[in-house]
Amino acid sequence: MTKTREKVINILIDNSDKYISGEYISDILGLSRASIWKHIKALKSEGFDIESKSGHGYRLHEQEKRGMNSYEIKHKLKTSYMGQEVYYFDSIDSTNIYANTIANKVPEGSVVVAKEQTQGKGRSGKVWVSDQDQGIYFSTILKPSIPITRAAFLTQVAGAALTTSLEKLGIPCQIKWPNDLVLNGKKIAGILTEMRAEIESISYIVVGIGVNVGPKTFDQSIANVATSLANEDYEVSELDLIRGFFLDFEDFYEDFKNKDYRRILDILKDKSAVLGKEIYVIRDGQKEKVFAENIDEYGNLIVRNELGFLEEVFTGEISIRGLDSYI
Ligand code: BTN
Repeated sequence: MTKTREKVINILIDNSDKYISGEYISDILGLSRASIWKHIKALKSEGFDIESKSGHGYRLHEQEKRGMNSYEIKHKLKTSYMGQEVYYFDSIDSTNIYANTIANKVPEGSVVVAKEQTQGKGRSGKVWVSDQDQGIYFSTILKPSIPITRAAFLTQVAGAALTTSLEKLGIPCQIKWPNDLVLNGKKIAGILTEMRAEIESISYIVVGIGVNVGPKTFDQSIANVATSLANEDYEVSELDLIRGFFLDFEDFYEDFKNKDYRRILDILKDKSAVLGKEIYVIRDGQKEKVFAENIDEYGNLIVRNELGFLEEVFTGEISIRGLDSYI
């Protein structure tokens, strides 16, 4: 999509409550009316429901497709790079898989967004069920110049950003270290971070996020640990959420690249569903009861074991559980 066409659709979106003349658009963009008409025709063939009424002009009608597409996502997005290049799909195997295939060719902050995933990936080889109208599925491509040992923390940077964006929309979620967002004690979002690196340097990192949004019936095996915003009686605009997230994530990611972890850690600690509780850490199938004390600046969980000694728990290595519940 050309920049000009993007400007045309943005003007139509801004004025979708009324008709606007071709003359008005051509004045704003400094283009001939014939050229505006060409762009309108192309937009119509892309599926935009644009009515042309003689004597009135053009009007974009509300339509299902407007819920989420690359123009709507970018429209009024106030970031400098996060989400500024969007690859949108009605259906795809996995946004993480696609992000991995384009990562070397696209700028940092490019995102892949899909309405449905047919092979959504969860952590530890699990499937992330990604039906249409039930969730938001997207992946962001990052290219930070950081040591490889710092990369895992990006999952938590994304978690802090997502918690912040959800909170701004009135949804009080918590973070189950290291990468689940929970609402009313059940998981509503997961983050899958994948990295491509050479021996010493990172080529790119893909941070994939799935948020359960719409009404959802979960498989019996996870019904007591998973939920969705709608199941908990929260209604959100997916566009507001994704745009808000890109803004918050860019903000925290800049802190992260500048080695300023203060705000991120404050959120991770403040919103933690784990700190200050007795939990089980599960390593290779072995359960150990510990007390969760802190999160360090690498994102490791600091726990006190039953002998009273402090231990570092590294992300990726283990899973954790509440003593008698998911958390
Ligand atoms: C987890 O909690 O297990 C992580 C789930 C991550 C799911 C998201 S949905 C968008 C992106 N694409 C994928 O295939 N997975 C991530």
